[in-house]
Amino acid sequence: MKQKILTLLISTALAAPAAMATDAGRLLNPHKAEVPVSVGVWKDDKAAMDTFIDELMAKMTLSEKIGQLDLQTSVRDRTGGTVNAEYEKLVRAGRVGGVFNAFEPKFNRTLQQLAVENSRLGIPLLFGYDVIHGHMTMFPQSIGEAASWDPELVKQGARIAAKETAADGVMWTFAPMADITRDPRWGRVSEGAGEDVYLNTVLSVARVEGFQGDDLAAIDTVAATAKHFVGYGLSQAGRDYHTTDVSEHELWTTQMPPFKAMVDAGVATFMTSFNDLNGTPASGSKFLLTDVLRDQWGFEGFVVTDYTAINELVPHGYARDDKHAAEIAFNAGADMDMVGQLYLGYMEELVNEGKVSMDTIDTSVRRILEMKWRLGLFEDPYRYFDEQRAKDTLLAAEHLEASQDAARRSMVLLKNDNQTLPLDLDTLDNIALIGPLADFDSIMIGNWRARGGRSKPIGVKRGLEAAIGDKAELHTTKGASFNFFADAAFAESRADHMVTYADPNDPKLAADIAEAVKIAKQSDVIVLAIGEHQGMSGEAASRVELTLPGNQRELMIELKKLGKPMVGVVFSGRPNDLSWEHENLDAIVHAWYPGTMGGPAVADILLGHANPSGKLPMTFPRSVGQVPIYYNMKNTGRPYYADNPNQRQEHYKSRYDDSPNTPLYAFGHGLSYSEFQYGEMTLSSDTLTLDGELTVSVEITNNGKHAGEEVVQLYTRQMVGSITRPVQELKGFDKVHFDAGETKMVSFTLTADDLAFYRADMSWGSEPGDFQVMVGTASDNVQRLSFKLID
Ligand code: NOJ
Repeated sequence: MKQKILTLLISTALAAPAAMATDAGRLLNPHKAEVPVSVGVWKDDKAAMDTFIDELMAKMTLSEKIGQLDLQTSVRDRTGGTVNAEYEKLVRAGRVGGVFNAFEPKFNRTLQQLAVENSRLGIPLLFGYDVIHGHMTMFPQSIGEAASWDPELVKQGARIAAKETAADGVMWTFAPMADITRDPRWGRVSEGAGEDVYLNTVLSVARVEGFQGDDLAAIDTVAATAKHFVGYGLSQAGRDYHTTDVSEHELWTTQMPPFKAMVDAGVATFMTSFNDLNGTPASGSKFLLTDVLRDQWGFEGFVVTDYTAINELVPHGYARDDKHAAEIAFNAGADMDMVGQLYLGYMEELVNEGKVSMDTIDTSVRRILEMKWRLGLFEDPYRYFDEQRAKDTLLAAEHLEASQDAARRSMVLLKNDNQTLPLDLDTLDNIALIGPLADFDSIMIGNWRARGGRSKPIGVKRGLEAAIGDKAELHTTKGASFNFFADAAFAESRADHMVTYADPNDPKLAADIAEAVKIAKQSDVIVLAIGEHQGMSGEAASRVELTLPGNQRELMIELKKLGKPMVGVVFSGRPNDLSWEHENLDAIVHAWYPGTMGGPAVADILLGHANPSGKLPMTFPRSVGQVPIYYNMKNTGRPYYADNPNQRQEHYKSRYDDSPNTPLYAFGHGLSYSEFQYGEMTLSSDTLTLDGELTVSVEITNNGKHAGEEVVQLYTRQMVGSITRPVQELKGFDKVHFDAGETKMVSFTLTADDLAFYRADMSWGSEPGDFQVMVGTASDNVQRLSFKLID
C-alpha cells in the first residue's frame, strides 16, 4: 500500500520546486516534528500543481474520478438522514472525495488512512464541518456577532475558529452564510449577518478572510464556503426550504453582492441552496452555478451542493428521477454531491450515455484535487491530525478571552429607562435572576455548536455569581418553560433534544411561577433571562409567532405586579416581537446566543464592567404581521407620514389600521451607557462629480460618565432613479471609541461608485441627480442633507 502513496508523493516532489522536494520517507511519518507543515504552493507554483494533477488524473479510472465528486457525512453529527452507513467501504474503494461531520485528529487520521493507505491511488480525503460561529470556543451566534458592526472582531472570531478547526482534524468549513434575511420567522436568520446587503457583504468578506487567512496551505487556516447560493433567505412565509421568487433587480441588488464579494476575496468553495429560485431549484441552476459564478465572476474553487439537494430536484418537480437529477445538477455546475450519492450511483451511466461529458467530469475533479493541493494534503495528508496541537489550541485562554470580548461587544441595549442599567452593587442587596435561561449553561452557544458542546459554556447564573461575589445575594429560579411545538407527536420525538419542552397544562408551570414570585418579592431588582430555546432557530426551525414562547409572558405578568425594577436579558437567534417586554420592562439587553463565555459577558454588561455597543443588524417588528419589515424599503406611491397633522388625508395611504408602520426597534438601533451627542453634520460640497469625492462629517461628544463605543452610520437616498430606489441604503459605518467627555470628528468619504446600482437596463453604475445623505446613530435616528451627483 505504501507504494501507492509514494508514487503520488514522488510525482509531487518532481513537479515541485526545490523547497517542496521533501524526502518522501519523511512524509510518510507525519508525526515527526520536522515534517514541513506549510507549502504555500497555490500562488507561486500553479504550474507544479497542474503537472501533479495532470499526472494523477491520467491514472484515475472514471469510477475514481466520480469518487472525488462525492461527499459523505460521518456518523458523528448529521443535519438530515444519511443514506450511507457504509462510507468506509466506499473510502477504501476510492469512491469518496470528502467527509464531513468527522473531527478529532485521531478519528480523522483513521479515516484518512483508509483513503491514503488503503485505496488504489491514495488520494487524501477533504474533511469538512459546519464551523459557523466557533469550533470549540464558541463566539456569539452569527447574527449576534454581526450586531457588533465590527469587521475586525468578526474576522478575529473566524480566525480563532479556523485555528481550532484546523487543529481538530478539519480543513474546510461550511461558512459563512451570506443569505440576506428579512423574515424573522425563518430560523436561519441566526446564521447570517441580517437584513442589509452592505453590512452582510463587509462581514461575509471578514469571515472569509478570518477562516482562510493569507494562505490556505498554512496549518491554521481552513477553506471557507460561501453559502447558500442563492436566495435562500427569501423562503416564502419564513418556512425553511420553501420556494423563493424574486425580481431580477432585487436578486442582483440584494442577494448577489455578498457572494460576488466573497469570490473577489478568494473564497475556496460555494454551496448551493435548497430553494427553488424563480422556477429553477438553485442546486440545478446552470444560470447560477455556471453563467454567473464561473463565466461572470470567474470563481475557481469548487461547488458543493447542500445536503441531498440534488435528490430534492425530484420532489421540486424539476427532475423525473434521481438519475435525471444527477444529470441536471452536474451539468448545471454542481461539482460535489453532498450525501445524496447520486453522482456515485448514476454518473458512470450518464457518461456512457453521452449525457455528461468526460470534459465536465475532468473539470470538476480537477477543481476538487486543486483544493486538496492548496490545503497541503498531497504534501502531507496527515498534517491536520496532531493531537498535541489540538490540545494546545482548543479552548486556549486567549480564545476564551476573545469570545467574551466578542459577546460583550455584540449585545444590544434595546431600552434603558431611568438608567436602570448598569446595576449598582453598592445599592443592591438582593438580585433575583429568573427565567428559563437563568441557569442553562449549554444554551449560551446557540445552534450550530460544532464542538462547542464540550466547551463547558458558562451561563448567566454562574457568570453573575462570579462577578457579584459577596457584594449582593443572588437567587435564581427558572419560573417558566419553553413550549413550542404545534405537533405534539413531533415534540415527543424531539423531547430529548428540546430538554425544556413542557405541556402547557402541566400544573408544575403554575408552581414554577409561584416560586419565582416568592424569590422576586425579596429582591431589589428582577433580572429576567428570557428568550428562545436554541433549537427554535437554525435549520428547519421556523416559527409563525415571534413572541417569547411558552409561559414566559405569564411569568412576567405576575412579576410585574410586584412593582420592582425589571431588566430583561433576551437570548434568541432572531428578532422577536418584544412589544410587551418593551412596554413593561425597565431595561432590555439583547444577548443573542453569546457563546462559551456568555454568562460572564452578560455579567460584564449588567454590572457596567463593559458598555453595550451592539446595533441591530435586523429590524425588530412590533408584531409578526409586519413581516417582512426592513429599513431600506421603497417609498410607495402613497407613503404614510404618521406625524401629518391632517390625519384624514393619510387614510388612503400605505399603512395598517391596527399597527403603526414603524418597527419596535429599527435596524441600527442600540443604546449605550454613554450619551452620544451628535453635532450638526456638514458636507464638503453640495455637489459630487462622477470622479470626485464628498466628505460627510459630524462631531460627536460622549456626554456620559462611561467610556463607550458608538457605531456611526452613513446612509444615502437617491431621490429619483431609472428604477425606484429605497428610502435609505447603508453606505458606511464606523465603530468609534470615546472616553467619557471626549469629542471626535467622524468623517466618511462618498464617491459616485458608492451610489452605483443595477439601473433599469441592468447595467451597473450611478445616475446623476438629487441625493440625500444621512448620518446617525440608527436608521431611524439620522440627520439629512442634500447633494447633487453631476456629470
Ligand atoms: C444543511 C445546511 O443547509 C447547510 O447549511 C449545512 O452546511 C449542511 N446541512 C451540512 O451540515
